[in-house]
Amino acid sequence: MCIKGFPLSKWQRSEGKGLIPMDSAEVLGQIPIFASLGNEDRRSLARQIDRRSFQKGTLLFRRGEAGDALYIIIRGQIRIFASTRQGNEITLALLGVGEFFGEMALLDGQPRSANAETTEDTELHILQRDNFFSFLMHKESALRAILYALSRRLRRTDNLLTEACFLQISHRLARKLVELSQTVEAATGSPASYEIFTTQREMAGLIGATRESVNKELKILRRKGLVQTSRSRITVRDLGRLKRRIR
Ligand code: CMP
Repeated sequence: MCIKGFPLSKWQRSEGKGLIPMDSAEVLGQIPIFASLGNEDRRSLARQIDRRSFQKGTLLFRRGEAGDALYIIIRGQIRIFASTRQGNEITLALLGVGEFFGEMALLDGQPRSANAETTEDTELHILQRDNFFSFLMHKESALRAILYALSRRLRRTDNLLTEACFLQISHRLARKLVELSQTVEAATGSPASYEIFTTQREMAGLIGATRESVNKELKILRRKGLVQTSRSRITVRDLGRLKRRIR
């Protein structure tokens, strides 16, 4: 599934020269936690950072593994998720361009708290633990940006937990479909129907439910004419009625 962060291009247009690749220092300047760095600091940090590409579907690390690096997304998307032995999964976050992950194991010295995989072809900057700490200690603005991101994530997780505890699956599914339709709307204007490219398994992960229960609820929505489904797509046909179901 595709939910993107702010647009950041590794390629910049230069007059008369077509597209030229941006160097790492320039890329850092477009990422919120590094945005306040001066040119010199940015160049020095860029020298400490590895840049690596990963294909869609690559598992970067698993929950419980030791972690010694912070990752920053330059292109693509990362899914942070937890899973059970029975194969059920919950998606804790979908992170896009400009966002970072892997900071928790660095900050508390504990193993990785969740799994991370690429959901698109992805390019990452990788900052090792020591460099991460010296960067944080020298830049108050970076410390603030990390604390801000952690608070935002905790809020989102609180919402997820509250919904999982107190809302029925039918309600959670309808809310997620409305939210994703609105993302489509923001990108494309007001289409006649909203195409969401996701499998039922992914959708189950997003709302903390099993694939079977999502399948059952989608059948009900289909019978009412609110959605259409195919193998890896859910089409919302009547957003207005779907919204009324969650009031
Ligand atoms: P770390 O524990 O090192 O490895 C897994 C990473 O996933 C973690 O650092 C965070 O960067 C990220 N992560 C874990 N839980 C959440 C969450 N609830 N929301 C967003 N990101 C998370």
